[in-house]
Amino acid sequence: MLADALPGVNRIRAVQQALAMRRDPVYLEIGVSKGQAFQRISADIKLAVDPAFRIPPRSRELAAAKGRVTRYFETTSDAFFENETALLEQHRIDVALIDGLHTYEQVVRDVENTVRYLKDDGVIFLHDCNPPFELAGRRADSWEEFMAQQSGPLKIGIWNGDVWKAIVQLRSTRPDLLVGVLKCDQGVGFVRKGTPESTLPYTPRQIEALTYADLKADRKRLLNLKSPRYLGEFLRESVGSSRNT
Ligand SMILES: C[S@@+](CC[C@H](N)C(=O)[O-])C[C@H]1O[C@@H](n2cnc3c(N)ncnc32)[C@H](O)[C@@H]1O
Repeated sequence: MLADALPGVNRIRAVQQALAMRRDPVYLEIGVSKGQAFQRISADIKLAVDPAFRIPPRSRELAAAKGRVTRYFETTSDAFFENETALLEQHRIDVALIDGLHTYEQVVRDVENTVRYLKDDGVIFLHDCNPPFELAGRRADSWEEFMAQQSGPLKIGIWNGDVWKAIVQLRSTRPDLLVGVLKCDQGVGFVRKGTPESTLPYTPRQIEALTYADLKADRKRLLNLKSPRYLGEFLRESVGSSRNT
């Protein structure tokens, strides 16, 4: 458990709170697995992307009951953005949850592709941005590969990968995006269009070379780490931002 985590805030509540402020919203979830989050989310249009859905029929029913239109795309996020441009141009995104492949290069691509179709006041959340210990932050290309990396009978069931580096990269390369992490639920990243309060100076090579020890020594600055209480302010400002444009 991280020091000042509020028990009430997690990725699902953050998404629900953001959607509750909007009329007939469009929701996109990248990386859905069993639908633990997707089945709980209410939105007008719900788009689910995963190359290997594990969502049981009952969860599909629950998910469908909470939306007017629910669509499943059994493909990678890269292929989804390449093939579904017409759909995305017609239905721009209000709220997205990015929780697919846990490598930072993929997460940066997922954020940048989502931003292309995000409404001006839309918001993106990302799961797994603040690994609590070194093993959880290990790099792997899949859950199976992460589990195979662990020898011995006791295996750790938390895998965040190096998603945290996506936050560092976005804060270093995108002065048009406000990016940070809520200190709860293994790190809930947040992104919206707008001027960031602070940026980072890292080059791609420096980001590649960063280690878990660097993160541990400097979490607050690298991640723009915020108390979960910041969620309310972030969402109020995102709605305010569209009124000002
Ligand atoms: C941690 S699970 C998602 C959990 C879900 N968002 C939730 O909150 O219950 C990660 C999922 O990402 C999917 N995934 C892996 N590679 C992907 C890719 N390239 N594009 C989209 N999803 C991917 C995996 O199949 C897996 O189901």
